[in-house]
Amino acid sequence: MKNAAPWWKKTTIYQIYPRSFKDTNADGIGDLPGIIQKLDYIKDLGFETIWISPFFASPQQDWGYDIASYREIAPEYGTMADAERLIDEVHRRGMKVVFDLVLNHTSIQHPWFRESCTSKDNPKSDWYLWRDGRGKKHPPNNWKAMPGGSGWHYHPGRDQWYYASFLPFQPDLNYRNPEVKREMFKNVKFWLDKGVDGYRLDIFHAIYKADHFRNNPFHWSYIPGEDRYGFFTEWKYTVNQPETIELAHEMRGLMDSFEPSRFILGEIFGSDSLIKEYLGDTANGMHAIFLWDLMAFKFNAVFFWDALNHYETWYPPPFTPVLVLGNHDSRRWIDRVNGDVEKAKLIALLQLTARGLPVVYYGEEIGLPEGKISAKDSLDPVGQRFAWAPNWLLSLLNLYVNRDNCRTPMAWDGSNKAGFTDKDAKPWLPLSADPAHVNAAVQKSDPDSLINWYKNLLNYRKATPALQYGNLELLPKESSRNGVLGFIRDSGNQKVAVLINFDSNTQSVKLGAKRIALQTGDAFLRAGEVVLGGLSGIVVCLDDD
Ligand code: GLC
Ligand code: CA
Repeated sequence: MKNAAPWWKKTTIYQIYPRSFKDTNADGIGDLPGIIQKLDYIKDLGFETIWISPFFASPQQDWGYDIASYREIAPEYGTMADAERLIDEVHRRGMKVVFDLVLNHTSIQHPWFRESCTSKDNPKSDWYLWRDGRGKKHPPNNWKAMPGGSGWHYHPGRDQWYYASFLPFQPDLNYRNPEVKREMFKNVKFWLDKGVDGYRLDIFHAIYKADHFRNNPFHWSYIPGEDRYGFFTEWKYTVNQPETIELAHEMRGLMDSFEPSRFILGEIFGSDSLIKEYLGDTANGMHAIFLWDLMAFKFNAVFFWDALNHYETWYPPPFTPVLVLGNHDSRRWIDRVNGDVEKAKLIALLQLTARGLPVVYYGEEIGLPEGKISAKDSLDPVGQRFAWAPNWLLSLLNLYVNRDNCRTPMAWDGSNKAGFTDKDAKPWLPLSADPAHVNAAVQKSDPDSLINWYKNLLNYRKATPALQYGNLELLPKESSRNGVLGFIRDSGNQKVAVLINFDSNTQSVKLGAKRIALQTGDAFLRAGEVVLGGLSGIVVCLDDD
């Protein structure tokens, strides 16, 4: 494998939730100038690409995932000039920027939907999925919404129902109407023309629905699962339709038609064989798709061995697995290790050295903790929807419903309001606990901090082709049963090994390592073997140079 790997195969992505990142005008809301202000911070850490959650015009009922105009910036985030400057400033630093593209639905406030609502025969009447029910009590069929409940919503104006995969104020577009597709593609091109390097594609698997509108079949499970069932139905006709897979390929074509070509990263839930269809036989479809195994990690070597083995089995080169541990929809993973920084370092080591495209959610680099906002106080519409549910039930069902808690403001320093906003301003969500100790500035001055570990890893990775695009070979599963996960990365002319001891006992692994590149905890080389103290990790070079 030569260095011909395209940028997106080698890159590292930092996800920004703009509302919570950095506020520059003391309104308590993060903004685009705030992101620009922090680009040097991100670059200095070593990330090469940023993905920004939506900041377009929106009534903010789902904090931007409900878009009212795709080519305008929500005023609280800034102006078109700010967005253009952001793209420029990213590029000036040799970095890439990925926007978030919500194709599946708009806001109910989008002019298309407003018009579509007015009658059964207006020019946009079939731009959304309208059907007759049986009166206003009985929806057209049993199709559910992803956050639970029927996906159908009655509209008195039309005396009809519209379908929404997510929340009622996010009506699904009808992509079977060619005009819808044409108009939406104009939006897509609009930002590509402005120089955006790619898109993260929001709930892409939901875009087409079967046109026969038959009931989804019964499924025994109430709890939603990744293979797309839950609430007692299998989502057979509402997600992963053949037309959706075709659309992924069409979008790849569109990306390739730009010079330089652009990148798409899909949010898709489905079986491995479906995901392979989106990716295309020869990796000629969507460039990359989130894989979710790591999100549910258990802190042991067997878990990670199985996850990497899964990725290598299903997504060997030329495919690129996406290594993601958290995002704006899921509990912060630092919680899973109870805030233990030494454990967090091992997880980061794995994420940034295994084969794939790492996506790090803002705050993970400092171990920003999960918020403590109760569902009934939540601003997240999903949280509000489940405000009735007692905690024991939610943990029984393993549902994460109040997403406010993973969206609390970034802690920049130990000052009042953690440097997120002005000291006298009220942040849109309360700060997470202990910003005086868990913040970027304080950690930067400590060489052993989590943030500096990320920085070392990212910068080493950038200089190490074997980590950027080399193959991955797992050491035998046997050693993972003793607590050690190990793998070798090989780019053809460079070989490194990564060993991580998830256990508290010292272990040793026979390996002809030449020298240590990076280490955390008590790990060292001793005549032909690597010795790993409890909770330690190491990257070693297997070549002479
Ligand atoms: C995706 C987003 C989530 C949003 C939903 C509806 O899952 O990640 O935040 O609420 O889609 O757009
Ligand atoms: Ca602001």
